Amino acid sequence: MTTEATPKKPEIKPATGKLGVLTPGMGAVATTFIAGVIAIRKGLAKPIGSLTQMGTIRLGKRTEKRFPLIKDVLPLTNLEDIVFGGWDIFEDNAYQAALKAGVLEKELLNQIRPELEAIKPWKGVFQREYVKKLDGHYIKQAKTKWDYAQMVMEDIARFKEEHHLDRLVMVWTGSTEVYIKPGEVHQSLEAFEKGLKENHPEISPSMIYAYAAVKMGIPYANGAPNLSVDFPAMWELAKETRAPIAGKDFKTGQTLMKTILAPGLKARLLGLEGWFSTNILGNRDGEVLDDPDSFKTKEESKLSVLEYILQPELYPELYKNFYHKVRINYYPPRGDNKEGWDNIDIFGWLGYPMQIKIDFLCRDSILAAPIVLDLALFLDLAGRANFHGIQEWLSFYFKSPMHLPELYPEHDLFIQLMKLKNTLRFMLGEEQITHLGADYYDYYQG
Ligand SMILES: NC(=O)c1ccc[n+]([C@@H]2O[C@H](COP(=O)([O-])OP(=O)(O)OC[C@H]3O[C@@H](n4cnc5c(N)ncnc54)[C@H](O)[C@@H]3O)[C@@H](O)[C@H]2O)c1
Repeated sequence: MTTEATPKKPEIKPATGKLGVLTPGMGAVATTFIAGVIAIRKGLAKPIGSLTQMGTIRLGKRTEKRFPLIKDVLPLTNLEDIVFGGWDIFEDNAYQAALKAGVLEKELLNQIRPELEAIKPWKGVFQREYVKKLDGHYIKQAKTKWDYAQMVMEDIARFKEEHHLDRLVMVWTGSTEVYIKPGEVHQSLEAFEKGLKENHPEISPSMIYAYAAVKMGIPYANGAPNLSVDFPAMWELAKETRAPIAGKDFKTGQTLMKTILAPGLKARLLGLEGWFSTNILGNRDGEVLDDPDSFKTKEESKLSVLEYILQPELYPELYKNFYHKVRINYYPPRGDNKEGWDNIDIFGWLGYPMQIKIDFLCRDSILAAPIVLDLALFLDLAGRANFHGIQEWLSFYFKSPMHLPELYPEHDLFIQLMKLKNTLRFMLGEEQITHLGADYYDYYQG
C-alpha cells in the first residue's frame, strides 16, 4: 500500500444505551424510515439500500480478503436501540401519517400499528411564509423565534428523560422552505441569536430546529435543500458545542442517477450538449415544490451537480456551455411514485451526436428512508468519535453537499463513497485505500 502513514486511530465512545432519532417533519420520508426500521426489527423486511446495515468495507490488501460488514467492525447503534421522536404541523400519529403518505402498504403498516400509533408528533414551529402551500394548525405559539428555539429544546430534553436516552440525533425531514440566501443575520452566532430574539425574517423554522439541536450538541443533518445549518453562524455554534452537522438535500431519484452517469461520461471523455430533466410527482413534497419559491431552493440544489462533476473549465471542448434544465411538476395521481425523465444529448468521436433517455419510475421515500437511517447512525458515530462541524465524508447522501468555505463540494458518487469508506477506515485505524491502490503498486512496481 502506498498511502502515507496511517493517522492515529480516534477514540470512539461505545454505543451504550438508547439513541433518540428526532425528525422535524413526520411526512412521507420520516414515516417510511420509522416504519421501515420497526418492520426490520421485527424481521418483516430487509434494510435494502442502507450502507450501515448491508454494506461491507474492504480492509487491508486485496490478498488479505477482509471484507467485513461495516456494522460488524464499527460501533454503530443497533436498530433495537433507536427511539423515534419528532414534530409536525399536523397532529397525525406515525401510523396515520404513513397511511396518508401512501408509500408503504397497509398490510405492512397494520403489522406494526401499535408501535407507530405510539409515535405522536409534538407541535411544530411553523410560519406559513416559508412553506406557502401548507396550512397546518398544530403549531406552537410564542412571541419570538428565540422562544420557539427554547420550546424545541424543552421537547428534546423531555423526550430524552422520558425514554432514558443516552444520545440524540436530528434529521430534518420537513418540507422544503422558500429560497433564502445567507444574509447578515447568518454571518455570526451573535448576529443570529440577536436575530432570533428580534424575529428576523430571514430566520426560517428549519433554522430554529437546527439551532436548538446544535446548541444542545446534538448532531444534525438536513435532508431538504433549505439553508438550515449551512451558514457561518451555525458552523460557529457547531464548533462551540462540538456537534457534527451535514446536509443538504437527500440524494435520491434523478440526481442520484445523474451523479452515477455523469462521472462515467466524463471518464470516457464523451461530450455533453444538454441535459433536460423533468419529473412528475404527486405527494405533499410535490405540492410544496409547486410553489416557485420552494422550487427555487430545490432547483439551486439540483443544478450545480453537473458543473462540479464535469469540470467544464478543465474540458472546455466537451462541457463548456452545456444546457441544463430541471423541472418538477406536481401530478397528484402518482402520489409518492415519482417518474423522472432525462434526455441527455451527448457527442463522441469526431463530434458525432448521440442521445441517452432515462425513464426512472422510482419511489421517492423508499430511496430516502435508508439515507435517513445511515445519516442518523453515522452522525451518532461521528459524535462519539469527537468529530464536529461539517461532515464532508457524508456528501455521499446529499444533492448539495455542505463543504468548508475554502473547498468545493464533491458530487461524484464514487469519489463520495471512497471518502466515506476511507473515513470509516480512519476511524478503525486501518490503512486508507487511495485511487492508486495497494494491489496495483505491489503488482507493477513492488
Ligand atoms: N423523498 C425524497 O426522495 C426526498 C429527496 C430529497 C429531499 N427530500 C426532502 O425531504 C423533505 C421531506 O419529504 P417528504 O416527501 O417526506 O415530504 P412530506 O410533505 O410528506 O413531509 C414533510 C412533512 O413536514 C411537515 N412540516 C413542514 N414544515 C414543518 C415545520 N416547520 N415543522 C414541523 N413539520 C413541518 C409537513 O407537515 C409534512 O408532514 C422535503 O423537504 C423534501 O424536499 C425528499
